[in-house]
Amino acid sequence: MKDGYGRTIDYLRISITDRCNLRCMYCMPEAGIPYLAHRDILTYEEIETICRALAQIGLEHVRITGGEPLVRQQCWRLVEKLRVISGIQTVALTTNGILLAQYAQQLVSAGLDGVNISLDTMDAAVYREITRCGDVSRVLAGLEAIQQYPQVTVKINSVLSGTNWKQTAISVAELAKRYPVHVRFIERMPLAEDNAPVCPQDDVLAALQTAYGAAQPCEKPMGFGPSTYVQFAGFRGKIGFISAVSHKFCEDCNRIRLTANGKLRLCLQSNQMIDLRALLRQGRIDELIPTVQEALKYKPQAHCFGQRGIETACMSQIGG
Ligand code: GTP
Ligand code: 5AD
Ligand code: SF4
Repeated sequence: MKDGYGRTIDYLRISITDRCNLRCMYCMPEAGIPYLAHRDILTYEEIETICRALAQIGLEHVRITGGEPLVRQQCWRLVEKLRVISGIQTVALTTNGILLAQYAQQLVSAGLDGVNISLDTMDAAVYREITRCGDVSRVLAGLEAIQQYPQVTVKINSVLSGTNWKQTAISVAELAKRYPVHVRFIERMPLAEDNAPVCPQDDVLAALQTAYGAAQPCEKPMGFGPSTYVQFAGFRGKIGFISAVSHKFCEDCNRIRLTANGKLRLCLQSNQMIDLRALLRQGRIDELIPTVQEALKYKPQAHCFGQRGIETACMSQIGG
């Protein structure tokens, strides 16, 4: 698949629910959001139909997201369905980790290739504050559980905030020293009305280098996302940065998104959406491929954070 700017699109992020068992400050309002009705959410079979169509025109990587994907029943059934589609090379999941220990074995048996786990701090009290209700020990139990399956690539996603961010960065980075996992620091993206300060990549790297010595840049990309990586001596995993604010990566964008209610979303920050669910439910399956190909012509060139009115959804509705 090619978009209007000649970028190759081979990656689909599939949000399977807008619900979540946490309420992270930067992702969801405290009161929650009006949830989609069950009948409006794509079934696993409908998602499979869309992926089978897109795999015919170059889809290679899929990532299952939410809200929190593991709150949807039998999430591993979708992994199983997508993993066997010809052309699809990897099926991965982004989770907050709360339910990971419970489902790790089923997900791995279903063929999951990678898990990205959100973990912004190692401090239980701060974690509870950021997530407004979460228990960090459950995330750490999820991390331990998935370590039993070395065939699964594990990455930690950490959005830094607060005045103590240097100490937080160092303690989360420590996980990449202890375990063969990659830790990525993500600049908080100002979506909707959020305008909290960002911890810029260069400052975080400088703090880590003070603690751990000089880092070596990694040339080879890891995974299929926007992260760039460095290696610290003695670390088992790499340290990555996803810096949509200070190091915009839109020119290399390779992805589109499918919302839980079946809309094709052309950019993380865009209200331009195409209703694929309507095509499916009207039996117009053979229109899926041409519809997506036509839509790709209108994929935005880049995000424009800071501009009001472009995106009103919160991150939990988008799926990151
Ligand atoms: P890998 O292939 O494992 O590197 O996955 P990923 O980094 O693409 O996915 P993940 O779900 O772990 O997302 C990590 C962070 O990257 C989250 O904060 C996402 O919101 C952000 N992200 C993912 N895709 C995009 C994108 O297209 N644009 C922007 N601005 N941010 C993105
Ligand atoms: N900016 C950057 N990353 C975010 N995430 C959620 N909201 C934001 C934001 N505003 C991250 C979560 C999770 C991934 C899906 O997106 O931490 O790891
Ligand atoms: Fe839920 Fe993840 Fe959003 Fe937190 S960041 S509210 S865990 S979807």
